Parts: sequence; C-alpha cells; structure tokens
Amino acid sequence: MGSLSNKHLVLGVTGGIAAYKSADLARRLRELGAEIRVVMTRAATEFITPLTMQAVSANPVRLHMLDAEAESGMSHIELARWADAVIVAPASANFIAKMAHGRADDLLSTLCLATEAVVALAPAMNQQMWENPATQDNLARVKQNGVRVFGPAQGAQACGETGPGRMLEPTEIAARAAELFSTGALDGRHVLVTAGPTWEALDPVRGITNRSSGKMGYAVAEAALEAGASVVLVSGPTALADPEGVTTVHVRSAQEMLEAVHAQANNIDIFIAVAAVGDYRPETVAPQKIKKHSDTLTIKLVKNPDILASVAALSPAPFTVGFAAETENLEHHARKKLLDKRIDLIVANDVRVGSAGFDSDYNQLLLIDKNGVIELPRARKIRLARALIQRVAGKYHAKSTAQDSRYAHR
Ligand code: C5P
Repeated sequence: MGSLSNKHLVLGVTGGIAAYKSADLARRLRELGAEIRVVMTRAATEFITPLTMQAVSANPVRLHMLDAEAESGMSHIELARWADAVIVAPASANFIAKMAHGRADDLLSTLCLATEAVVALAPAMNQQMWENPATQDNLARVKQNGVRVFGPAQGAQACGETGPGRMLEPTEIAARAAELFSTGALDGRHVLVTAGPTWEALDPVRGITNRSSGKMGYAVAEAALEAGASVVLVSGPTALADPEGVTTVHVRSAQEMLEAVHAQANNIDIFIAVAAVGDYRPETVAPQKIKKHSDTLTIKLVKNPDILASVAALSPAPFTVGFAAETENLEHHARKKLLDKRIDLIVANDVRVGSAGFDSDYNQLLLIDKNGVIELPRARKIRLARALIQRVAGKYHAKSTAQDSRYAHR
C-alpha cells in the first residue's frame, strides 16, 4: 500500500450510517502517515460523535463555519490551504448534489469550494438513491470538475436492500487516498538524493557542520517516491525519521557521503544533491578530546571532494540536479554553479536571515537551467518538492528523448 507520510488530509464526514466507519478510516489514514483534520456536517454528528472523531484523528474536530475559537487558530480558508487532499467519506447524495452546484452553506462544502487541493468523495447511500438519474448527473458533473470518486461498492445495505451504494471499506479508501499522490512521472526510474548537513570531526566530541535540517532533501526523496521512482536517500545527521518506502543510507562526513553516492551512481537515472556538504574538513582528526592549553588554536582545513560535480563528470552521467543556498545575488551565483559543476539543473534558494529556508517547513525556489528560470513561490517544502520533481521528470524525459534521437541518427 502507498504512503501518506507528510500529507495533510481533511477528512469530511457527512450524514449517513456509514459514518460509523469514518473513525476506522481516520485510523487507517494516520497509519499510512497522514495528519488528519476532521470536518463534520451537522447530520454526521447524529451518527458518530465529534469526540470519537477527535480521539481517532488526534486533532480538534471542526463543525461550524463560524467557530470563533477555530477561526482564530485555523480559519476555513487556512484549512483549505493546509489540505493536500480533502476526502469526504461518507459522501451523502445531498453532499454530492451540493458539490455539483457549487453550494457553500456549511463548513465542509465551503472548504471544498475554497481549496486547491484534490477532493475525493466516497459515496454511501441507498441503491435507489445512487441509481437515481439526478445523483448520476451530479456525479458526472463533479467528476468533470476534477473531483475523484472512490466507489461505491456493491452489497448488502443498512436499509436491508442489496446493490450499489455501500461505502468502500476504510482500508480501500485509504489505499485510494495514497494513490492520489502517485503521479507516475518517474515510474521505474532510479533516483538518488543527498540530504542534511555533513559532520567533519575535529576530535571525538567536536566537529564542523553546516546549518541544514534535511527537511528539503527528505521532501524531495518522498516526492520522487510518490512519482513512482525507487529512491535511495544518502543523509547526513538529521533529527528526521527515515521516509517510509525510501532506502536511507546514513553517513556523517563528506567523504562517507561521496562513497555512499558512488556505490549507487552507476545505477541511477537522476541524482539530486540537496545536502549542505562541508566544503572543508580538518586535515587531521585528534584521537582524544583537544585540551584548551593554549590561548589560540589553529586548525588546518583541507578541501572536500565535490560530490555533485563528481557525479556529473561520470560517463554516462545521470540527470544531475544541484541546490544553491545563497545569501545574495541568488540567480547569478546559482547560474555560475550550473556551469562550473556541469549539471543539468540548479535549484536556488535564498537563505538570508528571515527568509524561508533553514529549519522552516517552508521555502521558495528558483529553478535555473540553460533554457531559463522558473520560480516556485513560497510553499510547504513537500509541495515545492512535488513541483520540483514534476519539472525534473519533464526535463529528464526531454533530455533522454533528445539523446535517443541523436543516437538514432548516427
Ligand atoms: O558549491 P556549493 O556547495 O555551493 O554547491 C551546492 C551544491 O553542490 C549542492 O547541490 C550540494 O549538495 C552540492 N555539493 C556537493 N559536494 C560538495 C559541495 C556541494 O555535492 N562538496
């Protein structure tokens, strides 16, 4: 089953007997790694209590459009922006009708109108209601508007009838929710990502490192996985959990990172170097803790190998992507790195104090290659990573096609 790690999901619950399964669905979605916020319609609360949904989702449940407490924390618009997907399960015939006509008379329907995220419905209703032409027309309309529909299943219904209209089982809905994020843009490709800082030891307890949380690199690895690639992540020391489904290799120094990267480099299609690699390392590592005997201490540093440039120099080389963290003249410095390291694409981010960058869950990026510049405005790192992977996939496929046709003409 796919992963929902790092995903923000709004789980909408409308009024139908299948609402009792929504609690199990919330659990399944969380098991796949999603963070859940539940929004219930008034009718849904007749079937299952908000307290139950709060307990299983581990977050407060939203019931009303104008809820003073919630609006000061996360308003309906913030909730709409927060969501990577909105899953409505069960979706009643009435809710589907409202969506088909763009009505916004309660929190859930307003949110579905206000969000840019994908909306998926898991219909649940009596089989006559399901087969009614009005419902079928409404469904055709919501699908045309890009809404995804999961199910329904056939079978015995709570009303005693048998036929189409049963809500899909929670495990099935959770699996479909994970599939929403699988683009297939990198199906069957091998992607290698470096992330985090490196640690260059001075002695057994001290070392030189770079500021890097690893969040951007881990997000890039997850986005490549979502796109269908098999992904190896070579990570310096971070506080982050290994992303599920990604093979993570832990290293400390730049030298170790270089070795781990080259152990894979001949079998990959795309290399994305997000790591903040130390440019220099101490020439010698003291075997014991250095004592403060003298007033000054001089440490001689020697240059580390450039991992990215070394991969770009391979023949054949994978499609290579570098990151440039800059504090000034962003585009100018980044473009110089693109040329100096002979890579295919450079991703520049501004790491001045107060900008998105370090430690933050947010970032903003400039994608620069020989064809020009694309700006990805400020957004959560996982969203930026998805947009980046879409662009990288496009450029990688374009380059492979161009190379194939060149060989064909020889
Ligand atoms: O030259 P600079 O360190 O600014 O370049 C940044 C890019 O090069 C990043 O993609 C980083 O991961 C990569 N890099 C590397 N090995 C180094 C230094 C940087 O792979 N020794």
